[in-house]
Amino acid sequence: AQAPVNVTVTGAAGQIGYALLFRIASGQLLGADTPVRLRLLEIPQAVKAAEGTAMELSDCAFPLLAGIDITDNAKQAFDGANVALLVGARPRTKGMERGDLLEANGGIFKPQGEAINAGAADDIKVLVVGNPANTNALIAQRHAPDVPAERFTAMTRLDQNRALAQLSAKLSVPVTEIRKMTIWGNHSATQYPDLFHAEVNGRTAAEQVEREWLADEFIPTVAKRGAAIIEARGASSAASAASAAVDHVYDWVNGTAEGDWTSAGVVSDGSYGVPEGLISSFPVVSKNGAWQIVQGLELDEFSRGRIDASVRELAEERDAVAKLGLI
Ligand code: NAI
Repeated sequence: AQAPVNVTVTGAAGQIGYALLFRIASGQLLGADTPVRLRLLEIPQAVKAAEGTAMELSDCAFPLLAGIDITDNAKQAFDGANVALLVGARPRTKGMERGDLLEANGGIFKPQGEAINAGAADDIKVLVVGNPANTNALIAQRHAPDVPAERFTAMTRLDQNRALAQLSAKLSVPVTEIRKMTIWGNHSATQYPDLFHAEVNGRTAAEQVEREWLADEFIPTVAKRGAAIIEARGASSAASAASAAVDHVYDWVNGTAEGDWTSAGVVSDGSYGVPEGLISSFPVVSKNGAWQIVQGLELDEFSRGRIDASVRELAEERDAVAKLGLI
């Protein structure tokens, strides 16, 4: 039988954790033949709640769940980790300045990057979900110098899935008929969901919708969907975020379909003028467990302007954490 894959989840007692762990344990993260051992990392106050979730995981009697360890020690949590889902983060609370938020998260993602560097398995794959996801991923990556930089990724898959849902409703086509949906830039309100390269029935999505809808409805609806969910639900997106995390890792491990691509925050190699080293969302394909940025796409002035604005924001966040001594 195959050896279990070690999957570390931080923030395991949070609301995304609650939606995510059962999907991982049921085999949806890696594939239905791969046993998993879960490592749950929480802060001391939340360890008991994580233990409660672990009791429920046991009670599901998942055939693929090989074990669960719970800890408040990052070194232990990442020791031997093959996949790490960094979900736990410090949310912005009232009166908190952006610098305070970045600093509080630096206090989380720096030691976690160090722990990954010290003990994770050679094939470690890291997905950062906790916000600000791109910059948190950058902080962790910079503190894991022995791990190839491309193993650190940030989640924009939820934005992509939201874009698919909006376009599917607009054109009355199933999501399965939409290919090559891309989110560019930062996982924030400046993100750019790109309909000029998305395809529906062999034609670009952009030519099948009105330009006003694209610019004035589609983009803002996708970019502000998180706030709309909070407004409606009284809590931030959780099950959809967990589902997107599953999609991201599944594609990373199992590869993207021929003739399609997905998007993810990955370390820039300078492609499309995005400064090298920034963790920015790009169109990507996955082959043999590695992401590759899709090359050679033409960007018109509209797309170029949107991407540049989001990338500028990423550069500002990088400069802010550098100034705080976090990278
Ligand atoms: P939550 O507040 O319900 O749970 C967060 C959990 O993280 C808590 O249980 C907390 O104790 C834990 N935690 C805090 N610091 C930790 C540390 N140092 N180590 C381990 N655990 C720690 O939050 P929720 O709703 O689960 O969201 C988690 C994060 O995901 C937030 O930052 C949220 O903004 C982000 N998010 C990102 C999305 C994306 O598309 N990238 C979408 C939705 C949410």
